[in-house]
Amino acid sequence: MSISVPPRTTARGVLSLAPDFDVEAVRADFPILQRRIGDRPLVYLDSAATSQKPVQVLDAVERYYRQSNSNVHRGAHTLGNEATELFEGARRRVAAFLDADPRGLVFTRNATESLNLVASSYARELLRPGDRVVLTLMEHHSNLVPWQLAAERAGLDLAFIGLTAEGRLDMEVAARLLSEPTRLLGVTHQSNVLGTVNPIRELAELAHGCGALIAVDACQSVPHMPVSVRELDVDFLAFSGHKACGPMGGGVLWARPELLERMPPFLGGGSMIQRVELDRSTWAEVPAKFEAGTPDVAGAHGLAAACDYLDAVGRDRIHAHEQALTGHLLEVLDEAGVDIQGPRTLVERGGAVSFTMGEIHPHDIATILDREGVAIRAGHHCCQPLMRHLGTPATARASVYLYTTHAEIDALGAGLREVGRILGPPGTPR
Ligand SMILES: Cc1ncc(COP(=O)(O)O)c(C=O)c1O
Repeated sequence: MSISVPPRTTARGVLSLAPDFDVEAVRADFPILQRRIGDRPLVYLDSAATSQKPVQVLDAVERYYRQSNSNVHRGAHTLGNEATELFEGARRRVAAFLDADPRGLVFTRNATESLNLVASSYARELLRPGDRVVLTLMEHHSNLVPWQLAAERAGLDLAFIGLTAEGRLDMEVAARLLSEPTRLLGVTHQSNVLGTVNPIRELAELAHGCGALIAVDACQSVPHMPVSVRELDVDFLAFSGHKACGPMGGGVLWARPELLERMPPFLGGGSMIQRVELDRSTWAEVPAKFEAGTPDVAGAHGLAAACDYLDAVGRDRIHAHEQALTGHLLEVLDEAGVDIQGPRTLVERGGAVSFTMGEIHPHDIATILDREGVAIRAGHHCCQPLMRHLGTPATARASVYLYTTHAEIDALGAGLREVGRILGPPGTPR
C-alpha cells in the first residue's frame, strides 16, 4: 500500500508521514509491551538488536507444537506431512515477502550463518587467489569476519569503501573499487550503527558492471521497509527473522538458485544429500543442499506468521511511521545536546540512531535510562572498525519499530536529561 496522506509538519517541526497509523492497535498485539521495569512502563528502544513478537507469531509457534510437531521431509504419517507442508509453506511465504524465487530461499539460524554460508561456499570455494572482495567500513562483524576467514584461506584481497563525513558510503571510492579484479561486494542495506540506508540498486549495477556479485546484509532493512530482491537486483541477501517480529533462532539466506547450484554444500549431514556411499555423496537439489539436519520448523512457521503480520500492517506504512519517529528522535537527541553519529536528515536513513554524550560512557547512559524503564543499547554494536573510524570505543543507540510511540521518544528525552543531571558537566542541558 502506498502512503495516501501527504507529509505534514507537527508543532515540533517533525515530519509526520503516517498520521493515520494506529500504533495503539499495533501495540495491543505485543504482550511484552505491557511489562513494567520497576515502577515504570517499559520503553523498548532496542529493536535493532531484536524485535518484540506479536501474539500472532507466538500463537503460530504454539499451534505448531500443540498440533503438528513432527520431523520434516521423511514423514509417511499425517503429522510429518503437515510439518513438511508448514515448513515448505513458510519457505514460499518468506520468499514472497522478499519478492524472490523460493528455490533460492535457505533457512539458517541467523544472518550471521547466512553470511558465513556465502563466504564459505561461494567466496572460499569458487573465487581464486588474487580476486578481490569489496566491503564497507560500516559492516557488522557478521559481514566482515566471514570474509576475512574466506580471504585468508583462499588468498583473496579485501578492500573497503570508506564513509563521508555524514556517514554515507563514499560512492566515488565504490565506483573505483568496483572494477577488476573485484568479484564480490558485501554491503549492509542499512547500518545498525549509523542508520544510513545504502543505495543497493546503484551498487548492484556497479558490481554487475565489472562482473562481480553483490551480497546484501539486510538485517536492518527487511524488518522496516519493503525489500524486493528482484528490484534491487542482488545476488545474495541475508537477514535475521528475530529482528522482523519472528522467533529467535531463525535466519534467511536468499541466493540466485543458479549460484546455489554451483556452490558446494556448507554443512554436511542428513537432508542435504541425494545418495551416500562410504567414501562420497551426492547432493540434494537446492535449497535442501544447504539445509543439513533437522530444521527449526516452528521458527520458520513463526517467521512466515511474522511476514503475514508485517504485510497486514503494511510495510510502507510501517516505514512511514518509523520515518516520523526518527525525525522526532533526531530532534529530541538534538535538544538533549548529544552528538548524533550518522545522517541527520531523514532521506536514506532509518530508525537506528547512535549517539555519544560528551565524556559519559554509553553504558552509564544505558544504565540510568534503564532505571527510567527505557531500554537502549550501548557498546560497539559489533562494529569495532566503524567505532575506530568514529573515534569512540562505543556509542549509545536508540532504535524504533512499528510499535514505538512518540511518547516513548519523549521518555527517552526525559531520561537523557536525568543522565545529564546525574553525570553531565555543569552546563549540560537539563
Ligand atoms: C546489520 C547487521 N548485520 C548482521 C547482524 C547479525 O545478526 P544475527 O546476530 O541475528 O546473526 C546484525 C545484528 O545485530 C545487524 O544489525
